[in-house]
Amino acid sequence: MNEIATDIRPEAATDEPFVVFDRVQKSYDGETLVVKDLNLAVPRGEFLTMLGPSGSGKTTCLMMLAGFETATHGEIRLAGRSINDIPPHRRGIGMVFQNYALFPHMTVGENLAFPLEVRSMGRSEREEKIRRALGMVQMEDFADRRPAQLSGGQQQRIALARALVFEPELVLMDEPLGALDKQLRETLQFEITNLAHQLGITTVYVTHDQTEALTMSDRVAVFNDGVIQQLAPPDELYERPQNSFVAQFIGENNKLPGTVETIAGDACTVRLEDGSVIDATPVNVSEPGEATLVSVRPERVEFKPEVTAGMEHTVEAEVLEFVYMGDTYRTRLRVAGDEGFVMKCRNSLDQERLSPGMRIRIGWDPRDARALDRV
Ligand SMILES: Nc1ncnc2c1ncn2[C@@H]1O[C@H](COP(=O)(O)OP(=O)(O)OP(=O)(O)O)[C@@H](O)[C@H]1O
Ligand SMILES: [Mg+2]
Repeated sequence: MNEIATDIRPEAATDEPFVVFDRVQKSYDGETLVVKDLNLAVPRGEFLTMLGPSGSGKTTCLMMLAGFETATHGEIRLAGRSINDIPPHRRGIGMVFQNYALFPHMTVGENLAFPLEVRSMGRSEREEKIRRALGMVQMEDFADRRPAQLSGGQQQRIALARALVFEPELVLMDEPLGALDKQLRETLQFEITNLAHQLGITTVYVTHDQTEALTMSDRVAVFNDGVIQQLAPPDELYERPQNSFVAQFIGENNKLPGTVETIAGDACTVRLEDGSVIDATPVNVSEPGEATLVSVRPERVEFKPEVTAGMEHTVEAEVLEFVYMGDTYRTRLRVAGDEGFVMKCRNSLDQERLSPGMRIRIGWDPRDARALDRV
């Protein structure tokens, strides 16, 4: 067999998505679970990102999928087959990690040839694939250099090329851009997503950088403490966080603690700690009297009288700070005793510049205020 060795073939596929975590648990010490009852299905061709704070279990999940760790309970399936049945080198998985891990004694070309030699590919085919892979990451002229003669970003590109050179169906990447500067990171973010989509590769990507997750992914799984808190496309995650953890982890959010006062269908009112009442959408609350944290994005807060006049409830706010940021104005307010409430307004000709000490009334569309869990 001189074709690329993989036991993952389309005909092995059932109707089930390409990658499936089925009630997976992981404990390293036999006591604490670092991954708890994880269910996740990744369809072919999807770019899925695992996002979460340090220690939340992201790398552990990737390692189990790669076959370097075993699940304590549950099952991981690839194209409908339990991964335990497939030895790691026959899973057809490409991998890129944060610390490049190129072979230092080999040239770039030899590094790329390695996964092909392992798969017993003939010389001419090998050379063709290496040339293509280097072209993809715009490193054609570097085949004879050793890793030590490359910059960090160039090494990372080679690591990427090496993961893609054998045309894997699945690529796993664990914080591959963590060590790079902002500009290079952004260029590579763009290149990676482009390549993945262009080649139809299924990608599971790990990061703790929320901007990276939002800009690169088809869907994002937000992890905390070994549990997926929400799995959704970027816009849904940002616009409709399912709980306080996600609301606070993704983007900037104002959080107003209060108690549910009335609730009817998809609308509720919440009494804040200073007695004022606001409108919100119930998400994790179902009854009056429940404690809640209402989250409102800074860019959805309104203060112009002609806009707030039509609102059922508005809240008094005192301007504490006004910061000119070029494209936006950022105003810090005291709202219901909280001095960290932020409002962002677009810089436009008719936009009023506020000054500290001013008292305004603010409000929002109830759909932009989400009444979440408060623990
Ligand atoms: N080999 C190991 N032996 C014992 N415990 C481990 C091992 N690897 C990870 N852990 C523990 O498992 C938990 C999850 O770790 P994991 O590396 O999956 O987190 P992560 O989400 O990738 O974090 P980071 O963003 O810091 O990379 C942590 O509490 C960690 O200490
Ligand atoms: Mg990790």
